[in-house]
Amino acid sequence: AAVVPGAAPVAVAAANVAAVSKEVTILFGSQTGKSQGLAKKMTKKLEEQGFQVTLSSMSDFKTNGLKKVQNLLVVVSTHGEGDPPDNALPFYEFLHSKRAPKLEELRFSVLALGDTSYEFFCKTGKDFDQRLEELGGKRIAPRVDCDVDFDESAAEWMGSVLSALGETSGAASNAGQAGAAAASGAAAESEYSRTNPFEAEVLENLNLNGRGSDRETRHVELSLEGSNLQYEPGDCLGICPENHPRLVSELIAATGWKADEQVTINKNGDVRTVQDALLRYYEITVLTKPLLEQAAKLSSSSELQELVSAGHEQELKDYIKDRDLLDLVQDYSFQGVSAGQFLPILRKLPARLYSIASSSKASPDEVHVTVRAVRYEAHGRERYGVCSVQLAERLQIGDKLPVYIQNNPNFKLPDNSDTPIIMIGPGTGVAPFRAFLGEREETGAEGKTWLFYGDQHFTTDFLYQIDWQRWLKAGVLTRMDVAFSRDTDKKIYVQHRMLEKSKELYQWLQEGASIYVCGDEKKMAHDVHETLLAILEQEGGFSSDEAAEYLTRMQQQKRYQRDVY
Ligand code: 2AM
Repeated sequence: AAVVPGAAPVAVAAANVAAVSKEVTILFGSQTGKSQGLAKKMTKKLEEQGFQVTLSSMSDFKTNGLKKVQNLLVVVSTHGEGDPPDNALPFYEFLHSKRAPKLEELRFSVLALGDTSYEFFCKTGKDFDQRLEELGGKRIAPRVDCDVDFDESAAEWMGSVLSALGETSGAASNAGQAGAAAASGAAAESEYSRTNPFEAEVLENLNLNGRGSDRETRHVELSLEGSNLQYEPGDCLGICPENHPRLVSELIAATGWKADEQVTINKNGDVRTVQDALLRYYEITVLTKPLLEQAAKLSSSSELQELVSAGHEQELKDYIKDRDLLDLVQDYSFQGVSAGQFLPILRKLPARLYSIASSSKASPDEVHVTVRAVRYEAHGRERYGVCSVQLAERLQIGDKLPVYIQNNPNFKLPDNSDTPIIMIGPGTGVAPFRAFLGEREETGAEGKTWLFYGDQHFTTDFLYQIDWQRWLKAGVLTRMDVAFSRDTDKKIYVQHRMLEKSKELYQWLQEGASIYVCGDEKKMAHDVHETLLAILEQEGGFSSDEAAEYLTRMQQQKRYQRDVY
């Protein structure tokens, strides 16, 4: 805890006596900043209780100090097919390697973030939990796995860790003093957050694609005036969306629920009509395994009970893919199940995160996002992305949209504005680079900049073409290479352009350039990574191991950052 000026000497001495067991290390592994946010919150709570906390990203943590740690808290998310976030990977690999030390003195607890709609739910957190036990650690409190809507579960974990640590450390808390110190040191923060979003007015809502395009990409500008919300290039905007009113109506018609019946929507006892709860509060477009298991208990359908029983895992997976709640209530009988019984088994409708496309220096009191409408057909019905289609079809200028800022410490411009940057962002992945260049223009940064952009067609899909051209002319953007994949017989992607320019690209890296990749994770970011390795081997004469080490080192130095989804 911070040294409290003027604290009675007696209190200081008491704190010192208990210091051994009052030291806590919190490590976070975070892709979008959620884990980091939770780790920070936990730090504050512990400090208020008089604990001495070391808070660190896993990527900054010196592993040779691990043996000295007595109380370790791990807050980590999981991505894609059960992968650790980029900044957790080196620590994850170290801990799972033969180099990992025995940790018999260690007490630990894990908070895992994930999404139950993915097969490998919270896998990274589970792995850490299991591995720390294997190495000899004892749990302070059981691991908690959080779904997309993590607030309540995270609060429970914090509560049980705090009380377990409080009991064993035994020292009386000097909460009052430490709390006061923390409060006086804190910068003025906005009152708006994930749990209390700001109602932002819509200033602009344009389709960036030309007529005839397969795509519809909205450029939405929102006012942050009066919110005191601050953001930096690389941060994300959280948007709290609404479900499609048509889907809600169809669901109500199919179930026979009463639209204006009152239901309780949370533990606080807040009440909404069924209609409103389905529009704003519950997720109705995604089916998950836990949801179907709960639904099977309510349903009289033996087919549904069979589907969730052991031995039908693949069938269940196939069923939930691209189906929604309307399919479920149409395919299986829920006769006599009231809204009041059914709704509590649904997940809370999660906010959507979008990389911010504006610099707050260039557009004060505004925030811009670039959102591609998600529409596809599956199982004989048109399916819509909840938030993207709301923005595309039902959001008018002058409307209000609940938003908050999600800081993303893992996608930040270099501290030194002279550092060259290479930006790779096909499709809507280009959004944060509009923020980067806006910022570099406003601050008069001298560093060179290079953008790789791609989409399907030059004439209809060149997002923000005018901005890039203006920045090229002004020298804010040093060079730009584009790959339009469907204008030629053979597909050309951003990584093909990178390979064509491999000599110059390697030269930039030699000059200390940072690399930023934003957009599709599974295909694009993976292929771009492979291409970077190939360029290092080809131009730098590295072996494949050396090239991999080179990129890992860049990642550790925060010179290779990714915002991928
Ligand atoms: P495609 O749709 O023609 O396949 C933005 O979505 C751009 O990324 C599109 O031009 C898309 O091409 C392209 N894209 C698709 N797969 C990719 C990959 N593996 N690597 C890079 N770009 C890819």
